[in-house]
Amino acid sequence: MEIIRTPRMMKETSRRLLTQGRTIGFVPTMGALHEGHLYLGKSARSENDMVVASIFVNPTQFGPAEDFERYPRDFEGDMQKLETAGVDILFVPDVPAMYPEGFSTSVEVKALSEKLCGAFRPGHFNGVTTIVCKFFNMVLPTRAYFGQKDFQQARIIQKMISDLNLNVESITCATVRESDGLAMSSRNRYLLPAERKAAAVLYKTLQTAAQMIETGIEPRVISERMQEMLMAEPLVTEIQYAGIYDPETLDERRATGNRNLIAVAVKMGNTRLIDNMVVGL
Ligand code: PAJ
Repeated sequence: MEIIRTPRMMKETSRRLLTQGRTIGFVPTMGALHEGHLYLGKSARSENDMVVASIFVNPTQFGPAEDFERYPRDFEGDMQKLETAGVDILFVPDVPAMYPEGFSTSVEVKALSEKLCGAFRPGHFNGVTTIVCKFFNMVLPTRAYFGQKDFQQARIIQKMISDLNLNVESITCATVRESDGLAMSSRNRYLLPAERKAAAVLYKTLQTAAQMIETGIEPRVISERMQEMLMAEPLVTEIQYAGIYDPETLDERRATGNRNLIAVAVKMGNTRLIDNMVVGL
């Protein structure tokens, strides 16, 4: 696996690969990698000639009171995992290279960025779209891989690609879960043992909601049941949202549609956890 550290080198390499007629699959990450990230890597491996992964803990997508400083970092471990997953190139730029003195541009996908997580993390998605757009311009990917775990992020990036006519196809990969259903996340390592055990309530809540959708119960009733289930877990300290949404607009659904996004965000102590499921009727 080749390691590239500068934007200039990354751009030169991807231009050369494209002139050779090779397709590039791209997996952007913030490191502290787990099976969820590796699943994106394996999907990229099976569909492209070359696979580029990036590790960059992007400061502009963290709020002032968020965990940028303590975000887990494990470069050695990450390198080994990516090598095993068959990644060809690992791009690891540093903060001054990505945001040089005087950097003053931002990519904003309006409306979608303010809903769900956006309401609790102001500016977060602008940080995400800006960095992902920069990465696309350096890596020149044919296809880029995102996890359904962050459904809203994947949806916003799709919208950015379509609104800005970017030459990349975005692919959303299924959420990889622990054996009790908890969605894998770099932040799960913040959980205390009792919180880790209690965190299974998120997936149980999604499953219950999915069954209720199938039996034709209306979204308002389902949302109430979801809130009750989450509130019944004493280690859940805050419910940020829990309900049924339109997967395109992310608006709350009054009636179930062909496709329904069931999504939750809670805090357990200091740790914020999100999860979702998309179900048809
Ligand atoms: P990060 O949280 O490291 O996630 C990188 C990618 O892995 C994202 O597309 C995310 O949705 C996916 N992912 C995380 N957990 C997953 C799981 N359990 N199953 C499947 N996929 C999973 O998301 C980011 O980084 C950043 O916002 C980034 C896009 C890199 C921009 O900075």
